[in-house]
Amino acid sequence: MRKKIIAGNWKMNVKPSETATLVKEVVEATKSFTNVEVVCCTPAIDIPAAVAAAAGTHVGIGAENAHWEEKGAFTGEISTGMLVDAGAKYVIIGHSERRQYFGETDETVNKRARAVISAGLTAIVCVGETLEEREAGKLVEVIERQMNVGLKDVTPADCERLVIAYEPVWAIGTGKTATPDQAQEVHALIRATLAKLVGADVAETVRIQYGGSMKPGNAAELLAKKDIDGGLIGGAALKAADFAGIVAAGN
Ligand code: PGA
Repeated sequence: MRKKIIAGNWKMNVKPSETATLVKEVVEATKSFTNVEVVCCTPAIDIPAAVAAAAGTHVGIGAENAHWEEKGAFTGEISTGMLVDAGAKYVIIGHSERRQYFGETDETVNKRARAVISAGLTAIVCVGETLEEREAGKLVEVIERQMNVGLKDVTPADCERLVIAYEPVWAIGTGKTATPDQAQEVHALIRATLAKLVGADVAETVRIQYGGSMKPGNAAELLAKKDIDGGLIGGAALKAADFAGIVAAGN
C-alpha cells in the first residue's frame, strides 16, 4: 500500500513573517489524518520559520527548487546541502512554472532530481503536458520524454526518495481540473514508463501525485483512482482549511 502524500506548493506567496502561522494552522487542521503524509513546500526564505513551526509534528517541510552543484559561483541558487542544513526534507523539481519561465529543461530536471535524492531528500519531480501538446496528440510522447530524460540514471534504490507529480499545465491555477479518468490514464502511463526504467515492482511503490486545481470538492474522486497517490496543491494550500479538506479526502 502506498501512503498518500499531500504536498502544498506555496509558490511565491507567503512571507517569512506569515509562515509560522500558516504552518501551525496546517498542523492543527491535519493532525487527525494520520494515514496521509503531509508536506508544505515553501519559498526558500521561509524554510527556517516553517521548519521551526513544524518541529515535532507530522508535517514535513520542503523547498520549491534546488541546484545540482554542492556549492560555488551560482548566484541566486540554493544547494541541497543548504536545504538539509535548514531542515527541509522534500524538494519540488521541474515544476511547469520553472520550465515555462526559468528555462528548466528535462536535462536540468535530471541533474537537480539526482542531486536532491543523493542528498537524502525526497524529490517531487513534476511532469505534465500543455494544452497545445494534448490537442496535438503528443501527450504520450511528452510524458515519456519528461520521464525518460528527467529520471535518467535514477536507480531502483533512489526511488525510495522519489515522488512524481502529474500536473497538466492547462489545469494549474486555471480552475480546470483533469477528470479523474483523464488523470488516472496519465498516472497509469507514468507508472508504466517508470516500470521500464526501474522495474515494475519498484514502480508500484512510487507515489504519483496529481496537481492542478485540486480542491476539497474534487479531491476525493481523484484520490480514489488506482494510481493517484496524493496531490500537489497550489492555491488551496494557502488556506489551512482548504488544504486540510484535501488531506481529509486522502485519509
Ligand atoms: P494549483 O497549482 O493547485 O493552484 O492549480 C498546483 C501546482 O502548480 O502545483
